[in-house]
Amino acid sequence: MKVVLITGASSGIGRATALHFLKQGWMVAAAMRRPDVADLPCEERLRRYALDVTEPVSVCECVAAVERDCGGIDVLVNNAGVYLTKPLEDGTDADYAAVFGTNVQGTLRVTRAVLPGFRCRRAGMIVNVSSVAGRVSFPFQSLYHGSKWAIEGWSEGLAHELRPQGIRMKLVEPGMVRTPLYDRTRSQGEAVETEAYREDFASWRRYLLRCWEQGASPEASARAIFRAANDDSNRLRYTAGADTRQAFILRAVLSQRAWDWLVRRLTGLRGQPELVGTP
Ligand SMILES: NC(=O)c1ccc[n+]([C@@H]2O[C@H](COP(=O)([O-])OP(=O)(O)OC[C@H]3O[C@@H](n4cnc5c(N)ncnc54)[C@H](OP(=O)(O)O)[C@@H]3O)[C@@H](O)[C@H]2O)c1
Repeated sequence: MKVVLITGASSGIGRATALHFLKQGWMVAAAMRRPDVADLPCEERLRRYALDVTEPVSVCECVAAVERDCGGIDVLVNNAGVYLTKPLEDGTDADYAAVFGTNVQGTLRVTRAVLPGFRCRRAGMIVNVSSVAGRVSFPFQSLYHGSKWAIEGWSEGLAHELRPQGIRMKLVEPGMVRTPLYDRTRSQGEAVETEAYREDFASWRRYLLRCWEQGASPEASARAIFRAANDDSNRLRYTAGADTRQAFILRAVLSQRAWDWLVRRLTGLRGQPELVGTP
């Protein structure tokens, strides 16, 4: 029986992915910060593990326990992540540490921990949950974009490095997905500390929540993750959601100037220039 280790499996996309792999007959190692409170079924093939990706000891212990209990890992899904929207100027060092420490360093750390096992078996699959935000950028979530763009570039480079070892990398790029992340962002409100950003942030937030209200289900991302995990080709990127595909097509066909205009227009930022001339 194949074994998948999923980080951040307590809610949203990670939880839906755990249930999807379970339905497909896999052994699921569902890793999360609070295994005791997670809303997951009690099943023989679904085991819970404690994991905080920002803690090196926790990562080593979790990977060792899964390898010991399940006899190895076939697929790692790096899903654990945090989101933040606020003006960069309002961000604290704790914000920077949370976003980069979880989304970037956490992903690197868990990946590094599974590599010795993957190399010994000359097989293994790493699926990184990136985002539409890993390839196009919007205002007031530059930290989050920075973390997801980092994962995209890192995965592309590492894919080359690992292929001769029999290990494959995949990037799954969901668009807007209705998960607890959305609920947390909505309840966060539109207040900012630095007054100068108040109006633009409020416009951005209205746009963000409008898009998120029409967001896809986490199950759609889970299906894309499963498809990527079972694709032995060298394909790296898998989009999940019509909004991601639309954004990538527009970004590819529009000039930098037209894209810039579109982003400012959609998000209602002040100082919108006329779209005239060529770039
Ligand atoms: N929702 C979207 O629109 C969307 C779109 C594109 C990509 N994504 C990406 O999808 C992934 C999952 O997000 P989601 O929408 O499903 O959000 P979510 O429901 O908030 O799930 C995030 C998961 O990450 C876990 N996590 C956070 N910090 C962690 C840490 N230090 N160690 C271990 N686990 C940690 C959370 O655990 P706790 O329960 O302990 O907090 C939770 O299980 C993220 O990487 C996100 O960037 C989301």
